[in-house]
Amino acid sequence: MAKPWFLLLGVFALALSGFAASASYVRPPPRRTLVIKNSKPESHPQQVHTSMVGADHIQISWITEDKNIPSLVEYGKTSSVYDISATGKDTSYRYFFYESNKIHHVKIGPLEPDTVYYYRCGGVGEEFSFKTPPATLPIEFIVVGDLGQTEWTKSTLSHINSSDYDLLILPGDLSYADSHQPLWDSFGRLVEPHTSRRPWMTTEGNHEIESFLPIFSLHPFVSYNARWRMPFEESCSPSNLFYSFDAAAAAAHVLMLGSYADYGESSEQLRWLRADLAGVDRTRTPWLLAVVHAPWYNTNDAHQGEGEEMRKAVEEALYAARVDVVFAGHVHAYERFTRVYNNEANPCGPIHITIGDGGNREGLALDSAPFSLFREASFGHGRLRIVDRERAHWAWHRNDDSYSTVRDDVWLQSLSSSPSCMPVDQISPSSSSSSSTKEEL
Ligand SMILES: *[C@@H]1O[C@H](CO)[C@@H](O)[C@H](O)[C@H]1NC(C)=O
Ligand SMILES: [Fe+2]
Repeated sequence: MAKPWFLLLGVFALALSGFAASASYVRPPPRRTLVIKNSKPESHPQQVHTSMVGADHIQISWITEDKNIPSLVEYGKTSSVYDISATGKDTSYRYFFYESNKIHHVKIGPLEPDTVYYYRCGGVGEEFSFKTPPATLPIEFIVVGDLGQTEWTKSTLSHINSSDYDLLILPGDLSYADSHQPLWDSFGRLVEPHTSRRPWMTTEGNHEIESFLPIFSLHPFVSYNARWRMPFEESCSPSNLFYSFDAAAAAAHVLMLGSYADYGESSEQLRWLRADLAGVDRTRTPWLLAVVHAPWYNTNDAHQGEGEEMRKAVEEALYAARVDVVFAGHVHAYERFTRVYNNEANPCGPIHITIGDGGNREGLALDSAPFSLFREASFGHGRLRIVDRERAHWAWHRNDDSYSTVRDDVWLQSLSSSPSCMPVDQISPSSSSSSSTKEEL
């Protein structure tokens, strides 16, 4: 299984990135599941969450037990002064004997970038506020997968919130409700203080499938699709299970791919992906990111090979488009690879980063040998700060109980600014400086 380059990189990693130091680190055990009950009146909004829709709109989603509450959001730039309002849609779903409450989705805007808005849902209850993402670089993304709802989730969320960010990307496995629908509501309440104040962009993991029979799927993704509606129509996708969005006025384009939607040669997803990539102009969009659930590269024993089929079907399209980074979740550990394509180190391939360690109840992945650049099984989150057209800083923060420690950080250079990876007419028009301080991967 171990390819020679993996071995080489492994030796390199051992020498360089502090594996020796982490050898004494004892990975923490899982913590107890939190179940958060509703403490608000039936008419009041619960589980409020926001997501980006296009360049200047935000979708606000919430749930009410009272079915008479309208899907109405009132908002403005001053606290308690709501000079604008918008209405949207509501939905609900059945899952065997469970019937969901009223799920509201309202799109508001146009909004100004990098601005705090105050809002109220359904005309009743408390005031919430969020900040819109900036329309220019720099922009800061949080990346955290496999969140779940345990004491670890809580500590990850508080570390995430302890320093500012613009939007959060979740590569799947949200609630770990696993068909027990009230756990979706509990998860919504646990994350509300965070999802109501910054946009969260999600894609599905295996825990979102919730089909009763493993092979013959019965109503897959019913709950996820009803509750976590993402802006797929805006990116011309036919399904909530895969879509894309732009950030910072298209300085970054993010492909939120579906590991559990068809990705074969004649699939809707692959057709959509090719069309979406064809519309990306790298002179305008220096950063291209992709997100999947099951990693395509993984040296942990846990979930070994699960992303392989999708890798074979989709990797070439991402490589040809010069995707900069592929983020994954699923494996409950953190791992960062060098630039790679088709199982070989390749200076024009994406960097693969697995960050499936948000706090889920399954605990962390155990491992075999460390053949990637950095790997560790502990809970935490990542921060990608895109500084300018050429440079981004990636940092992985580990939860050390109540502290958050940066365990891995690296400067990335955009492939769009690399003359050897881009056709000459598509090279990002950069500042003429050729900084020698940045670490190239
Ligand atoms: C998140 O951080 C903001 C700003 O520091 C603070 O006002 C808010 O209370 C925090 N929320 C949580 C849930 O910790
Ligand atoms: Fe998973």
